[in-house]
Amino acid sequence: MIDEVLDHRSMFGRVIIMYGTRSPADFLFPDEFRTWDEREDVEFYLTVDRPTEDYVGNVGVITTLLPKVELHPRNTVAVVIGPPIMYRFVVRDLLARHIPEGNIWMSFERQMKCAVGKCGHCQMHHFYTCQDGPSFNYAEVKGLEEAFA
Ligand code: FES
Repeated sequence: MIDEVLDHRSMFGRVIIMYGTRSPADFLFPDEFRTWDEREDVEFYLTVDRPTEDYVGNVGVITTLLPKVELHPRNTVAVVIGPPIMYRFVVRDLLARHIPEGNIWMSFERQMKCAVGKCGHCQMHHFYTCQDGPSFNYAEVKGLEEAFA
């Protein structure tokens, strides 16, 4: 997703990347961080829940980064990727910042196994994530307990 946005950078206004993990040992593709941090057309924020001695940066869950940026709700689209518990709190805070439900997108790719509609592992109520997603608009899934549990 991020690569697609950056590959078509001129199609977007501000691009803000917020990335959080439990600890620095959990970083995926940390080389990308430097690239994002050095770009003048990207705002990159990093946080960890449990810092190591050599970690320098924000400490706290991902929602601690949201107050660091000013957002224009009607012009903001949020793409949220992570575990269900994170969705619950990030979406809560995005809605509190007046981001419209239709501007919040979430990926449920992590629930997929066969990816061809056979195993049922990805089912969320009437959706098969592998067939109907894997990305869904918050307005589509907000009533589905499976999306946030
Ligand atoms: S991943 Fe198997 S049915 Fe969707």
